[in-house]
Amino acid sequence: MAVPGTWNVQSKELFWYEGSGIYMRTFRYAPREAGERALLCFEGAAYEASVFLNGVFLGTHDGGSTPFTVDINGVVKPDNRLIVVVDARRSPLRVPMNNTDWFNYGGLYRDVYLARVPGVYIKDWFVRLVPDGTFSKIRADVVVVGGDGKVVLAIPELDVQEEITLRDGAGRGVFAVNPESLSLWSPENPKRYDVSIRLLPEGDGAGGGAGGDLVQDRGDLIRDRIGFREIKAQGQEILLNGKKIFLKGVSVHEDHALLGKTTTPEVIRETIRDLKEMNGNYLRLAHYPHDRRFARIADEEGVLLWEEIPVYWAIAFGNKNTYQDAENQLAELIKRDRNRVSVIIWSVGNENPDTDERLRFMSGLAKRARKLDEPRLVSAACLVNHTKLKIEDRLSEFTDIIGINEYYGWYDPDFDKLSQLLSNSSPDKPVIITEFGAGARSGQRGSTDDLFSEDCQKALYLKQIATFKQYPFIAGLSPWILYDFRCPRRFNRYQEGYNRKGLIDADRKTKKLAFSVMREFYKER
Ligand code: GCU
Repeated sequence: MAVPGTWNVQSKELFWYEGSGIYMRTFRYAPREAGERALLCFEGAAYEASVFLNGVFLGTHDGGSTPFTVDINGVVKPDNRLIVVVDARRSPLRVPMNNTDWFNYGGLYRDVYLARVPGVYIKDWFVRLVPDGTFSKIRADVVVVGGDGKVVLAIPELDVQEEITLRDGAGRGVFAVNPESLSLWSPENPKRYDVSIRLLPEGDGAGGGAGGDLVQDRGDLIRDRIGFREIKAQGQEILLNGKKIFLKGVSVHEDHALLGKTTTPEVIRETIRDLKEMNGNYLRLAHYPHDRRFARIADEEGVLLWEEIPVYWAIAFGNKNTYQDAENQLAELIKRDRNRVSVIIWSVGNENPDTDERLRFMSGLAKRARKLDEPRLVSAACLVNHTKLKIEDRLSEFTDIIGINEYYGWYDPDFDKLSQLLSNSSPDKPVIITEFGAGARSGQRGSTDDLFSEDCQKALYLKQIATFKQYPFIAGLSPWILYDFRCPRRFNRYQEGYNRKGLIDADRKTKKLAFSVMREFYKER
């Protein structure tokens, strides 16, 4: 089995397999520095992974789309045998649960690698602009494992060189920058700065301190490329660096005809190329954390991102283990991507039935997101109150932005309900239409009433856009969806195992008529 890779697309016999897979490989390891530690890093394993090294059980990770690290010191030897059991079964108690509108790929579908770090190393860092509208202060949090001391944070291009003292392995600092010399990141100006964080371990001032035999001859050094910007929700507007912005976007799944859920920098850049051809500046990465490299490339390309954890549909909201799983996935996503300037919104879920348990569960996640990352916005694809035909969801009290999925003209044939819904609503926050659309089989032509014809899909897009234009509280769009994607719930003669709401066919080449509707609208915006 190739790693990274899903077993579903690597062997015909395993295409529909939803059980456990056992991966085994040997590897040799020898430390290169005194006191070096070895960490085994997994970028993503769907869904639950149990790790055994040289016959020692090291732990289990839940969650199919977030990274995790296993410290193998004390177990690693010169010759090693690694076994990973990956269980892809769906369950009503997991996040997502057993019913999703996408394909359940399984396996070690993202990279697995060994990391060498010094005995005392920098484990986590978070460097961002203080969102106070002055663009003049940068806050840094650093976490170190294995000891204490100081870190020196440097941003040469901004003449920043700051020392932060660590206590119990953590340190925080706020320092001034000259707003005149700070080039703020935006889609038009995706400026990033080289940031370095050098660790000066305790008692290491003079280089070879009096410490034990594990003193390393230099402190750990982290280099990152970080952009600085401010994102805010104010009234019904979203402000980027103090200026109103309209999010011209589209939703995407992590689904590829040949690669399954595995992706590559080339596929990510191709997705961003298609977005830019649509004159877009924003992507909703649905419905789970995408590959780490997506936000890195979006930073470089100037694309704004909505990132989401798969709290999707009827989750077991009353189960505390389920909540822990969801909160852990949220924390792992935020810790992975909070230095990525392109990420502006954390989404705590999608289309969840409105019960008290759901409210407690998802408002808890919203609070957790704010605790881990104060400068970003929190949202979710919320519900419409269908009886009052109004944008109304108790969850929106806990979010900065209200996401709305609506399929008037498709699942609900009465298209007029959309303008009634929008006219009945007076949201006190910005609204993003996080989903709308229709299915179309690429190449299928017909009248505008022929379901699954490209003409029908295009006609619906034209009506949706014409309606949105009348409501200024709509601050962004992410129509469902950029590419057709695999979906075992859809087997009629037009869908054949795919959700065909893509604006581009699953071949990621053939555009449908409706693509041009979004391209023209975003150009005009
Ligand atoms: C839902 C859901 C999507 C689904 C889409 C559809 O709103 O959020 O995951 O694929 O509608 O029915 O196509």
